[in-house]
Amino acid sequence: MQFSVASIATFITLNETISHNYHTFRSVTSTTPPVQASLLAESRSVSAVPPLPPSITCAFPIEAIRAEFPILSQSIGDCPLIYLDNGATTQKPKAVLQALANYYTQDNANIHRGVHTLSQRATDHYEKARERIARYIHASHSREIIFVRGATEGINLIANTFGRTHLKAGDNIVITAMEHHANIVPWQLLAEQIGFEIRVTPCDERGVLDLEAYANLLDKRTRLVGVVHVSNSLGTVNPVASMIQQAHAVGAVFLLDAAQSIQHMTVDVQALDCDFLVFSGHKLYGPTGIGVLYGKTALLRSLPPWQGGGDMIKSVSFERTTYKDIPERFEAGTPDISGVIGLAAAIDWVDSVGRERIATYEKGLLDYATAKLAAISGIRLIGTAPDKSCVLSFLLGDVHPHDIGSFLDADGIAIRAGHHCTQPLMKRLCIPGTARATFALYNTYKEADRLAESVAKIAQFFKV
Ligand code: ALA
Repeated sequence: MQFSVASIATFITLNETISHNYHTFRSVTSTTPPVQASLLAESRSVSAVPPLPPSITCAFPIEAIRAEFPILSQSIGDCPLIYLDNGATTQKPKAVLQALANYYTQDNANIHRGVHTLSQRATDHYEKARERIARYIHASHSREIIFVRGATEGINLIANTFGRTHLKAGDNIVITAMEHHANIVPWQLLAEQIGFEIRVTPCDERGVLDLEAYANLLDKRTRLVGVVHVSNSLGTVNPVASMIQQAHAVGAVFLLDAAQSIQHMTVDVQALDCDFLVFSGHKLYGPTGIGVLYGKTALLRSLPPWQGGGDMIKSVSFERTTYKDIPERFEAGTPDISGVIGLAAAIDWVDSVGRERIATYEKGLLDYATAKLAAISGIRLIGTAPDKSCVLSFLLGDVHPHDIGSFLDADGIAIRAGHHCTQPLMKRLCIPGTARATFALYNTYKEADRLAESVAKIAQFFKV
């Protein structure tokens, strides 16, 4: 990639601006110790405080849950860490860390290949994990669970197997305006070679899909519909059950991107009747580098392999190679064995807390944080759909989202700033990006208060 002199200069200037503002900001707040400054910062506009819902906060064992996440009890500089970048990745409970340690200290061996005890144990853990994950999403059989690196690799697998065998010039696929780049670019790469059309379901200013437009985009040449369940930038929960029915009515298969929903709600692939589903383990309190592609048995069996190598073949000769049945057909080479085991441990842990309970707690927390931020003058909430999950995106006057992120970091608060890998959505909303706080089950109402106080302080500092 080439950088122009002008863009480098702009970049350096931006960083210098951030750096200068950051130091001024720290010195403004340093008359009291930073923790105090951050906790007690005068907030001119967060007085319209919504009441805490005591029934929810008391019923949820938040302190016990937080104690399961050692990483949370640290400070960033002088401020206690407030981790609100869960849409990017979640922290890992002790149960997951212990499962990884147990595997490497007791059972580490390659799977499916060895006759020795360690290999058999590792294989057993790996296949039991597959069954556990199948139960978690209510797949009808564990062979419908294919292990991949993450949601991105899952979609690339679908594009390179289903896409290559089912899409022809003149066909179309339908996605939405709020897709992550992972559900856009693999299809563009393929469309460049095949010549099918990519149709985009629009959304309104709130981040709500136009379902009438969606219905009009579907036709008998639609082969696949790919939709994000929960928007990573806006938090919109899309009405996928009805969208799946509509896709099936024209004979299209439905790919559900559950990367931002699987950790917040119950996702039942049979009840939804989706054909493919993808998610990443690291957003579900599991390790990085492991993800899941679910596909219906008959559909997966109809697809050719994508990557070739060991463990996916029945026999190999220079004349002819034959392939195993699913799931092995799609798992060439040594997989991320510890990642799979860690992901199953994460799922066990989530279920031990209770998915309904998590959803109720997180909904209360999101509503509370939204009301607190909405009360800050100069703030603009981005993503105001009626049905939302744990994402709180915002802008503050003309303050660059990266500046907001840097200033919040000075108070120990980790958020994400930028386009969140949804550049077409940002273009649709005519914004360069957002500052984005994303919540998880270990976040607290007090942390929402601290976020609002810090944002109000930034507003004050920039005279928004
Ligand atoms: N897709 C991830 C996010 O939204 C990385 O932050």
